[in-house]
Amino acid sequence: MISRCLFPAAGYGTRFLPATKAMPKEMLPVLTKPLIQYGVEEAMDAGCDVMGIITGRGKRAITDHFDVSYELEHQIKGSKKEELLDDIRDIIKRCTFTYTRQNEMKGLGDAIYKGRVLVGEQEPFGVILADDLCVNSNGEGVLKQMISLYSKYKCSIVAIMEVDPNDVGKYGIIEGNEIENGVYMVSNMVEKPDVGNAPSNLAVIGRYILTPDIFDVIKETKAGKNGELQITDALCEQAKNGMVIAYKFQGQRFDCGSVDGFVDATNYFYELNKDNK
Ligand code: G1P
Repeated sequence: MISRCLFPAAGYGTRFLPATKAMPKEMLPVLTKPLIQYGVEEAMDAGCDVMGIITGRGKRAITDHFDVSYELEHQIKGSKKEELLDDIRDIIKRCTFTYTRQNEMKGLGDAIYKGRVLVGEQEPFGVILADDLCVNSNGEGVLKQMISLYSKYKCSIVAIMEVDPNDVGKYGIIEGNEIENGVYMVSNMVEKPDVGNAPSNLAVIGRYILTPDIFDVIKETKAGKNGELQITDALCEQAKNGMVIAYKFQGQRFDCGSVDGFVDATNYFYELNKDNK
């Protein structure tokens, strides 16, 4: 039902300098797998097979990652190392990757708008911010959970989690009524509110299902917080004119845009995988 997923990946990753000086932050590995591959696998697990990546200057390693490397294949052919490429080979075989560039840093709303040529304007689509690494060890991935919910509500959906009230300034924050367990009808959304001015401590994380009318709304949305076009503001407008659902996802999210979150994710996957070695 939802076959396309967008990956905004044009940001500079300044919190990881100097590592991200010449390398996209989306290519930082958690163990041996780059962040963006975790996101692509989550999207595949949710049934998507068209991955639309919004890149920028200095991001060519992402394009190369999702393509065959003939030299490498030739080099390791017949050796035990070949199996290290099994997963990425399977991804390349099963998915189509499309790319466009966001040539100015004008915000997440602008990045998603640039992605309309990749997802079209007819169907709902997913959005994954790869630096939010999500896992749900005993069940369905977060995007898959959201797609199940989409089949019931048929509207845009954001994934949310409760955060420390002192951290609201790092996120889009929602206000809404709980209409079923963990599901909220959104009435208001604020991008990175000041502590004390936030409508709640329910924070949006980097997983969205968007209905294609969002593109018309973004077109009319003015620059907001930090002078950038915020997807939060466009969603707030969509919520006023129709319906937006916020969903408290099952699982765990690591903020791999921060060093602490990145180390936590690394430790988590290390513990998970060390017995399989
Ligand atoms: C973006 C969104 C914000 C959301 C966050 C989730 O912010 O603008 O609403 O809560 O992702 O990670 P960023 O972290 O890119 O500044």
